[in-house]
Amino acid sequence: MKPNNAIIVAIINQKGGVGKSTTAVNLAAALGELKKKILLVDLDPQGNATSGFGVEKDGELMCVYDGLINEAPAESLIIKKVAENVDLIPATINLAGAEVELMNEYAREHRLADLLEPIRDAYDIILVDCPPSLGQLTINGLTAATYLIIPIQCEFYALEGLTKLLETEKIVKTRINRDLEILGVLMTMYDSRTSLAKQVVNEVQAHFGDKVFETKVPRTVRLAEAPSFGESILSYDNKGKGAQAYRDLAKEVIHRV
Ligand SMILES: Nc1ncnc2c1ncn2[C@@H]1O[C@H](COP(=O)(O)OP(=O)(O)OP(=O)(O)O)[C@@H](O)[C@H]1O
Ligand SMILES: [Mg+2]
Repeated sequence: MKPNNAIIVAIINQKGGVGKSTTAVNLAAALGELKKKILLVDLDPQGNATSGFGVEKDGELMCVYDGLINEAPAESLIIKKVAENVDLIPATINLAGAEVELMNEYAREHRLADLLEPIRDAYDIILVDCPPSLGQLTINGLTAATYLIIPIQCEFYALEGLTKLLETEKIVKTRINRDLEILGVLMTMYDSRTSLAKQVVNEVQAHFGDKVFETKVPRTVRLAEAPSFGESILSYDNKGKGAQAYRDLAKEVIHRV
């Protein structure tokens, strides 16, 4: 890991509900617990990573939109210490407008990268929770990122849409951001009792080889409950298997960056 210049990891999959925000919140908390200085950027107008850390998303709250569109400095958007060693740039519903507004801006793909540049030396890792689309916000995530984590839900249509995602990644890598790499593919909502889950893991491994993280995030209701209390799994169910999985993932991530 390069000192004094955060690597930026975008958590990305245009498919909805695969565990991006759950991973963003809990990986941030687990990396923070390992004493890494983390900034989590919520790049999804749904604001699930924001509420996942218990931050109220009322319309008055300054959010990443103000940085991308209104040129508010990143510093002014940061909510400090939402968990141990974790800061947050939140998203509110205001961010929904950015998708269309960015279309008319110059250098629109670079807005997030430019926003984060001045604060990069204050963090070890900046995590970006992307929305479930391949629109302007996600392209901004891809442009800013050093690495991608692609969560894949262990279910029948798991690989659907990935071709499009990988095509988009390739275009951004070729045209805009040569440094972009896939850090890993993360199997989520894994249920070891079903043969389907094993089948999906095999299929994804055949496709991505050792890019697939050893850690598989188990399906557990605790992970689904934690956000309604505005807590990461590390504080909601510290000793449970969800917390264990995200701790294991954090170690793998540190090992790979
Ligand atoms: N390992 C898990 N076990 C059980 N439930 C989970 C797990 N991971 C995520 N969930 C639940 O599945 C739903 C989708 O997860 P999440 O919001 O993290 O996905 P997402 O990819 O961010 O969705 P979106 O594309 O809408 O942003 C949520 O209700 C979440 O609580
Ligand atoms: Mg999400």
